[in-house]
Amino acid sequence: MEILKHTAGTKEEQYEQLLPQIFSIIEDEASPIANMANVVAALKQTFSFYSWVGFYLYDKIANELVLGPFQGKIACTRIAVGKGVCGSSYQKKETVIVPDVNNFPGHIFCDGSSKSEIVVPIFHKDEIIGVLDVDSYDFDSFNDTDKKYLELLLHHITPKIILT
Ligand code: SME
Repeated sequence: MEILKHTAGTKEEQYEQLLPQIFSIIEDEASPIANMANVVAALKQTFSFYSWVGFYLYDKIANELVLGPFQGKIACTRIAVGKGVCGSSYQKKETVIVPDVNNFPGHIFCDGSSKSEIVVPIFHKDEIIGVLDVDSYDFDSFNDTDKKYLELLLHHITPKIILT
């Protein structure tokens, strides 16, 4: 969609250009589903090395993570707390960067083309409500720049993605 302006430069510069655009796209929309859908679309559209990006949200009744809006191939619907990269990030309440998914014990393979991964927890009023999962076509794709900007992004958008 033309509303998303092309970003250019280093990864840091791209995140710097993208984040304000995402904030303005979702600021006037009340639907958490629509907002999450546009967030993952904007990220996937911007970063060609992203093979998959999506939300896993905590389901209190089942006590597990359940797939939310995403961009990429079909993925596993539910992930137990503590399992895989997503479940580990949720349990530890911290961002997990995996440079080579083959070396992460218990990694859950959804898409064979995924080589590295970052999972960032989402907090609302000090409570963890889910994670954002990003996979890459390449090994060693994610570093502190992705961690910094994805954490910043989630911190700012959380009020706009809370399911009631
Ligand atoms: N690899 C993740 C599972 C989700 S898919 O990558 C989309 C994990 O190990 O938690």
